[in-house]
Amino acid sequence: MRADFEEYLESTRRLIDRALEETVKDYPCEISELKEVMDYSLWGGKRLRGVTLLSIYEGLGGSKEQALPFALGLEMIHAYSLVHDDLPCMDNDEYRRGRLTCHKRFGEAMALLCGDALLTLAFEVMLSARGVDPRCVTQAARSIARAAGIGGMVGGQVLDLQLEGKKSGKESVTRMYRLKTGALFQASAEAGAMLWGAPREVVESVSRWGCDFGYAYQIIDDLEDSRKAGKEETKDTLVKESSIEEVFKEAGQALQESLGAISALGESVWFLRGLSRRYAQNLESLRRGILVE
Ligand code: IPE
Ligand code: IPE
Ligand code: MG
Ligand code: MG
Ligand code: MG
Repeated sequence: MRADFEEYLESTRRLIDRALEETVKDYPCEISELKEVMDYSLWGGKRLRGVTLLSIYEGLGGSKEQALPFALGLEMIHAYSLVHDDLPCMDNDEYRRGRLTCHKRFGEAMALLCGDALLTLAFEVMLSARGVDPRCVTQAARSIARAAGIGGMVGGQVLDLQLEGKKSGKESVTRMYRLKTGALFQASAEAGAMLWGAPREVVESVSRWGCDFGYAYQIIDDLEDSRKAGKEETKDTLVKESSIEEVFKEAGQALQESLGAISALGESVWFLRGLSRRYAQNLESLRRGILVE
């Protein structure tokens, strides 16, 4: 059912927030310290990957409740990736989501184990989904596993480290962005359609949307980071590889391409269109902010 973009984003985000909290709270485990760290790390995200998946499943005709375990799984994998990304051996960051990073608050060993626990719990939760064809569950979980792993997010994080302190060219950075961030957005979209058992053309279209949107999302994140003192100065980014105008153009084009990928899908993907347009607006405000400085 068509709803207002803001309202849908906010209510679905809240649904995911509550379900994440309950999943950790109700998990039969006596080690309350571990639950506290997991809870802390899951807190406060925008939940865009989970909302993406739910919006597609619902847009195609399903109910949010059936696909919810997959939205939770995606957000757990994403949260784990951030906990590990912030560690001293990676980006060495002090703040995340407006609070101390997990390792600053609980120590490195706990942060490492919290990441491990979130990644594992993600698959336990996704594979426990009820009311969805088990073949669709397997297909969607495999897609997410692939995107989170060596050919996706983890591989992209390795490239990110390898490019550190270098100027490796636009193509290398593009590849790294598409893997470290694009892949999980791609899988969020793809898995939403797969869970519903959508035809191949639909899966492929939303998959291309996720790939282009996720790529633009990482460019925008880097543009925002470039304005924060001390953040990721040694990283190889598109901003270092080309002129700032070209970077804005690249992100704008990727967002346009994301819209093009789903142009034949009609109202079922109204939320994805809203998201691409929202980030095109964000990009434009950022452009004004950066270029008038
Ligand atoms: C941050 O992702 C890391 C990137 C991939 C750019 P988000 O901006 O989606 O982080 P949260 O989940 O909303 O905190
Ligand atoms: C994070 O990229 C991408 C991940 C896959 C974790 P960044 O390192 O740019 O994300 P932030 O800026 O720390 O959120
Ligand atoms: Mg990083
Ligand atoms: Mg980082
Ligand atoms: Mg960043």
